[in-house]
Amino acid sequence: MGRMQERREPMEVRPHFVESYERLITTLLDTYPLDEAMSLAVGGAYDALGEAEADLLNRYGLLEHHFLIDIGCGSGRLSSAIGRRFPGLRYLGTDIDPRLLEYAAGKAPGNFQFLLHQQLSIPADDASVDFIAFFSVFTHLLHEESYTYLRDAKRALRPGGTVIVSFLETSHHWETFESMLLLVGTNQSPHLNMFIERPMLIEWARHLELELDLPEPSPGQSMAIFRRVQLPIDFEANIYLELHKDVADAGVDPIHHYLIQGHKEGRRYR
Ligand SMILES: C[S@@+](CC[C@H](N)C(=O)[O-])C[C@H]1O[C@@H](n2cnc3c(N)ncnc32)[C@H](O)[C@@H]1O
Repeated sequence: MGRMQERREPMEVRPHFVESYERLITTLLDTYPLDEAMSLAVGGAYDALGEAEADLLNRYGLLEHHFLIDIGCGSGRLSSAIGRRFPGLRYLGTDIDPRLLEYAAGKAPGNFQFLLHQQLSIPADDASVDFIAFFSVFTHLLHEESYTYLRDAKRALRPGGTVIVSFLETSHHWETFESMLLLVGTNQSPHLNMFIERPMLIEWARHLELELDLPEPSPGQSMAIFRRVQLPIDFEANIYLELHKDVADAGVDPIHHYLIQGHKEGRRYR
């Protein structure tokens, strides 16, 4: 044994997203009036973007009797807008900063729930949630952190349930990338900004056996819609292979094929 020995106490690891968002929110609250700080904390355009997020959930099938979990709900852009449309919705918003949650709760119907949650997991039972939203959240995480969230979202989704993710990609958000370039070496970047390219999302869906829709982007962030497809109880692998020679010829696992592609294409399974 050498003479230099060091006793290391276990260190609490504070994730980068907690550090950076806490710092950002403290600065905003010190600089701006409350409403402005709370809007800037989630990227601004509070009412307009809240309505746009609610429109998207409506378009992809959210109904008032559903259970929606809004991960990284921030200061409540979505919860205030969706609360006006669906006050009876079962809603849970999570975030890593309590100041945002308190503000969001003040603008939402009284039955909406908010939870401080700093782990990359969905605080819900298995197969219990209809919709999980990640609006402008994967844009601030490392890919492996986003995948960890998505894997747990699959666990928490009911069969037929939907995950909506907004993301940035170089082909449509180059000006955002250029604005990030300006900050290199300045120490002024408020938080991590991460682009996710489509092939990465396609691989994530394939590995997790989730069906994926990648609509053509409209203004704003791009959207990825993942669905947990239920395998029909009367599904038989050999019948599926007989019906679809292309699947048999490709040597693809028939269950995997049905879940991530065949279902979306409306292929028969019997
Ligand atoms: C750009 S804001 C978007 C807020 C909200 N989703 C919206 O669209 O209005 C990003 C939010 O994600 C939260 N956040 C950052 N890292 C997170 C994580 N790992 N899990 C959950 N929320 C996180 C931040 O505190 C912030 O409120």
